[in-house]
Amino acid sequence: MGKKIDRKEFLRTSAVAGLGLSVAPFSILKGKDDRKVALGFLGVGSRGTSHLRGILNRDDVEVKAILDPDKKNLDRALKLVEQSGQERPEGYFRKEDYIKLCERDDLDGVIISSPWEYHTRQAVGAMERGKYVGLEVPAALTVEDCWELVHTSERTGVPCMMLENVCYRRDVMAILHMVREGLFGEMIHARCGYQHQMTPYIFNDKLEFGPGTGSVSSWRTKHYLKRNGDHYPTHGIGPVAHWLDINRGNRFVKLTSNSTKAKGLENHIEYYGGKDHPNEEVDWKTGDIVTTTITTANGETIIVTFDTSLPRPYSLGFRAQGTNGIWEMERDAVHIRGRSEPHRWEEFDKYQKEFDSELWKRHEREAEGSGHGGMDFFVRNAFVESIKRKVPTPQDVYDAAAWSVIAPLSEQSIAEGGAPVQFPDFTSGKWINNKQIFYPNGEY
Ligand SMILES: NC(=O)c1ccc[n+]([C@@H]2O[C@H](COP(=O)([O-])OP(=O)(O)OC[C@H]3O[C@@H](n4cnc5c(N)ncnc54)[C@H](O)[C@@H]3O)[C@@H](O)[C@H]2O)c1
Repeated sequence: MGKKIDRKEFLRTSAVAGLGLSVAPFSILKGKDDRKVALGFLGVGSRGTSHLRGILNRDDVEVKAILDPDKKNLDRALKLVEQSGQERPEGYFRKEDYIKLCERDDLDGVIISSPWEYHTRQAVGAMERGKYVGLEVPAALTVEDCWELVHTSERTGVPCMMLENVCYRRDVMAILHMVREGLFGEMIHARCGYQHQMTPYIFNDKLEFGPGTGSVSSWRTKHYLKRNGDHYPTHGIGPVAHWLDINRGNRFVKLTSNSTKAKGLENHIEYYGGKDHPNEEVDWKTGDIVTTTITTANGETIIVTFDTSLPRPYSLGFRAQGTNGIWEMERDAVHIRGRSEPHRWEEFDKYQKEFDSELWKRHEREAEGSGHGGMDFFVRNAFVESIKRKVPTPQDVYDAAAWSVIAPLSEQSIAEGGAPVQFPDFTSGKWINNKQIFYPNGEY
């Protein structure tokens, strides 16, 4: 069966099944065939290259086309594919050629790892041309763009998976397993965040930023100049959303956000560059610590912290808490009523072993060295396996929208003095009956 027919068949079946209605039972095995999955890449900087290397380790995927306006990065990526024994893919370097790439009829999906401002339009372009979308975080920067992703995926029937790798961390998957087994009782509260000193990335070694200064410093730093809010909520909120059944029996209802003053980046430049450094006077907008509190339809609260400008070690700061117990990642400890001594913490390790996800146990070897402690293998694997089976992805467009929209809503709340801001219901009511699609013990 030709690829074109396969894709048409997929579009018909997935449109009929309707997206977001759970892992559709359609064609789980019927649609599976032995041909390789064909992928294109949009953006092969640091993250895109890491995805490319991971994909080239698989023997069930071919890379057919790559776009990057940076010819050095593009050439490196094309060579990597050739060195892996595959044919040299077609290279594109004009930004607008993402349409041409998506129009190719020899691709099943695209992996998008371009700067944030291109994500929505590239994902929409790919869905409109029948390509599965694997989209780096965040999926969109505005409420309107989140809706556009949702509407496009619904209209075309094509899945859009935000490649939120942290959902596949071994510990947060064990916690998900524990949540679903009821160890925490009824969930009450969670904490998470992106607490990562970003100064080594958002400045080059001369403390410069802007076009031509390197990779991330050329595009990401400007967000600190223009926006006051949580730019990067999805690494923290993704796992929490799975624990709390968001979009599947629960939903985010509202948030409030507050920020501190913005002193960290100025202080960093003064400390390392001196008072006379040309960037010492820059007026940064993003507060050093942005704290967002989300309330859910089922009555939980979630505190999300964005802390990327001050000197600090990395931490995602997870906490899961219910009527029967608590896990705190930074303590590496749990307390479970009926198992733990009253008022005492227990080491998490014992629970990690007991509730380790089947997925991790099965793929531990393949995950080794795949990036970010192994979790990157799983997020790519889920994307590729969904394409092979022609089924919806285990993180869908509603997840992408609900997790990404925290950024613009936090900006709005801060601009309004910490006022509550309502979340849109991207599922248009389907969250009430939607079933789980993400499993710690699933097949992929
Ligand atoms: N999930 C994770 O753990 C993780 C880690 C790092 C980065 N990211 C995400 O990956 C994305 C890329 O980040 P990065 O660190 O690789 O940045 P980067 O600057 O290293 O790479 C971006 C690449 O995109 C290219 N590019 C610019 N405009 C483009 C366009 N219009 N179309 C296609 N390519 C274009 C650039 O030339 C560059 O090669 C971001 O969304 C970032 O948030 C995710």
